[in-house]
Amino acid sequence: MPWLLPKSITPEADEWLERWLGELTERLADPATDRNALVAEILSEVLYARPYEELKETAPLAALALDPRNVTFEAEYYAATDPEKFARVKPLLWLWKTLDLTPLGQSIHSGVRIRRALAPFIFKRVGKNPKFFQNVEFSVGYNLELGDDVVVHRHVLLDDIGGIVIGDGASISDYANIYSHTHHVLASPDVTLKQTIIGNGVRITYHATVLAGVRIGDDAMVGTGAVVTRDVPPHAIALGIPARPRRYKVRHDCPYCRAEAPHPSDEVPKLPDRKPNPDYPDFLPPGFGTREA
Ligand SMILES: CC(C)(COP(=O)(O)OP(=O)(O)OC[C@H]1O[C@@H](n2cnc3c(N)ncnc32)[C@H](O)[C@@H]1OP(=O)(O)O)[C@@H](O)C(=O)NCCC(=O)NCCS
Repeated sequence: MPWLLPKSITPEADEWLERWLGELTERLADPATDRNALVAEILSEVLYARPYEELKETAPLAALALDPRNVTFEAEYYAATDPEKFARVKPLLWLWKTLDLTPLGQSIHSGVRIRRALAPFIFKRVGKNPKFFQNVEFSVGYNLELGDDVVVHRHVLLDDIGGIVIGDGASISDYANIYSHTHHVLASPDVTLKQTIIGNGVRITYHATVLAGVRIGDDAMVGTGAVVTRDVPPHAIALGIPARPRRYKVRHDCPYCRAEAPHPSDEVPKLPDRKPNPDYPDFLPPGFGTREA
């Protein structure tokens, strides 16, 4: 029996939704489109059922926060954020987040389709069929790379400021957190950006946390509530805090495993760590200034 069942909404609503998404995609693909104005207009229609200019006349406070130029994101306060890249994606992140608060965003059918339409205009790379459920958070969006058929469940945090790569068929479960930046223990403004790599077919399960710079090998699984502080080998099931491989999946269909050859996910080059703040050059070794408890 299949695990996922087909579901539909009324043909009339589906037709309306598809038409609207087609128009939205066309406008986003046009480099001349003013994304801030477009987002303010869409949100005014969805939230208040009237054109933005009319809303501004009658309810200026309600209108104010619909225009992305009038809101700020946490990422904008950090030196690590590239202002130009962020300015391109900010209106669409605002649209994504704000639609999550509406019936359109909370319904799986429309919510998944809307996010699928927005994804190629926000992320660094996106494969086919990305599936995002509601209330997913990003740091900047433009540093996220997705393979094909990636699923991201509710309330996931993808802190992509230092870069996150998620491979084909990977699944990130509810309330999981994936990071790509760290702070020095003695000087919190001393930030290091570390690319985090989640391999093909990996499952990061509920409430797990993956720390910056970790590589999780293909087909591995991170158990519920685990905190991943070190790389996880392919096919491993890593559990606990700190997460350690406790078992390995036995894959009779894995050619690398049989040949005992290096696994492809071990060969993926990872970006070197980067310092976004020139006041803190890379001279402090890890553990600097601490002592054993
Ligand atoms: C990894 C996981 C699958 C283990 O399940 P399981 O194979 O049924 O494991 P068991 O219940 O037989 O437990 C085996 C041992 O591991 C321990 N254990 C199980 N899950 C654990 C976890 N997440 N963290 C730490 N220890 C765990 C058990 O307590 C047990 O220990 P014991 O032998 O000392 O009693 C499960 O913990 C998990 O993370 N499930 C996530 C579900 C999922 O896929 N969610 C995503 C859906 S979108």
